[in-house]
Amino acid sequence: MAKVEVDGKSLEVKDGEHIKDAIEELGVIIACADGTCGVCRVKIEEGMENLNEINEAEKGMECEEGERLGCQCKILKGEVKVKPVF
Ligand code: FES
Repeated sequence: MAKVEVDGKSLEVKDGEHIKDAIEELGVIIACADGTCGVCRVKIEEGMENLNEINEAEKGMECEEGERLGCQCKILKGEVKVKPVF
């Protein structure tokens, strides 16, 4: 099991699973869930190396350094700490 943390609250997520549902439960806004609206943008405070590679949808959104689209992230292992941008 991996763990995702948002503003000090955390949930467990299976290795290799999307973090979308967990971060939504922890307060991150998820809208389109397909990488086109950008409201799920999060700053990765710790554990970027534990996430999947940035995908085409995220490249198209031109996230700032250290940011990802929460709806597009899968956690591979370990722990990831994120902070909502919006
Ligand atoms: S919820 Fe729209 S880009 Fe992630």
